[in-house]
Amino acid sequence: MISDETAALTEQFLVPNYGRFPIAFTHGKGSRIWDESGREYLDFGMGIAVCSIGHAHPKMQRVISDQAGKLVHCSNLYHIRQQAELARFISETVVRLTGKSFFCNSGAEANDSLIKLARKFGHDAETGRFEVVTCSNSFHGRTLGGIAATGQEKVKTGFAPLLEGFHHTPLNDCDALREVVGPKTAAILFEALQGEGGINPATPEFFQTAMDLREEHGLLVMLDEVQCGFGRTGDWNGYETALRGADLDFQPDAISWAKGIAGGFPMGAIWVGERCADTLGPGSHGSTFGGTPLGSAVALAVLETIEEENLAENCGRQNGRIRKAVGNWNTPFVSDLRGLGLMLGFVLDENAVGKTSAFEESDRESASLFLVDQLTDAGLLTVPAGTDVVRWLPAMNVTDAEVDEALKIFETVLKDLK
Ligand SMILES: Cc1ncc(COP(=O)(O)O)c(C=O)c1O
Repeated sequence: MISDETAALTEQFLVPNYGRFPIAFTHGKGSRIWDESGREYLDFGMGIAVCSIGHAHPKMQRVISDQAGKLVHCSNLYHIRQQAELARFISETVVRLTGKSFFCNSGAEANDSLIKLARKFGHDAETGRFEVVTCSNSFHGRTLGGIAATGQEKVKTGFAPLLEGFHHTPLNDCDALREVVGPKTAAILFEALQGEGGINPATPEFFQTAMDLREEHGLLVMLDEVQCGFGRTGDWNGYETALRGADLDFQPDAISWAKGIAGGFPMGAIWVGERCADTLGPGSHGSTFGGTPLGSAVALAVLETIEEENLAENCGRQNGRIRKAVGNWNTPFVSDLRGLGLMLGFVLDENAVGKTSAFEESDRESASLFLVDQLTDAGLLTVPAGTDVVRWLPAMNVTDAEVDEALKIFETVLKDLK
């Protein structure tokens, strides 16, 4: 679990901005992770979709060590070969469209970059457009730009005045989207598959409406793929999986990423398509640590591993196996399984969970937190979303045996719930 020393140090010296589970980890390997007492867990949270190729992957270890021995950092005052090669991989292999990338350090920073891109795009075209439309229940990060863009009140409370120029509209409500877009709208920004909001996929009709509005108003359609990007949904891009089977040639104007891009090494990125590839000109934007030789080399190694080991395909295949198994569960506690690939949300029946004596005896205020606790106690790490969703975000190279083991743990916990 957690040693007294770690708990005391946290209490005394760390800003209490996180609600933490009482566990501290010392090391991991693949899909396994060990805590300070030596207890082993199956990790199906992976740092909230961050450690995309598992813990302590040998290729990541090698690249980090090799590159650290050559050059960790150099300023963007100079050219950085590793950064340019990573950008080439993103344009040629991931997005497969003409465009350019900018690198930063987190998802919030990537989204701030998109917001600046939208404003500059509107400014340069002298259209008077500067507003960004995002979705209710979305999550776009914790910076002032990120919380203004996020469609959840709880992240904004106490931080007024917020950055102006944002409107939120319900995901997949095409009429509402049409209504909210107007002469000041510079961009629409949404997640192809909402993560923090509870694993909610955008529909092809919503994409189509965004494309129609782009045509009508000349605005940008931007996607936040921070959580769902880079293969996790079963394709390189979350929007490709969300649009599978739909007869729609969707091409984004800009995309943001972070989380899984470098397998746990901190990095964020944006890609911008032809329409706005040169909008952020010299001096308009930047980041001291963005796209260092070390960060770029690690990210490229992670993305190459995803390609070489067909990990997006594994995500899609495991989704099918999980859905089949969960379909046979006979439980009153799980009412739905949402999601794409290995970005899954077990939707809990809050009423049924709330009536169990185990819940009543616990000090947890939501069904999702309570169940995540129960699963953790049983040796399976998962992640809550909202009050009623338990997320699975395992490593993309998780094996059949590990998935079967996690399914067994989950099913047993539900069976034992009284
Ligand atoms: C879709 C989405 N966008 C942005 C962010 C913010 O990323 P970061 O925490 O790296 O700033 C997150 C984090 O959960 C996210 O899920």
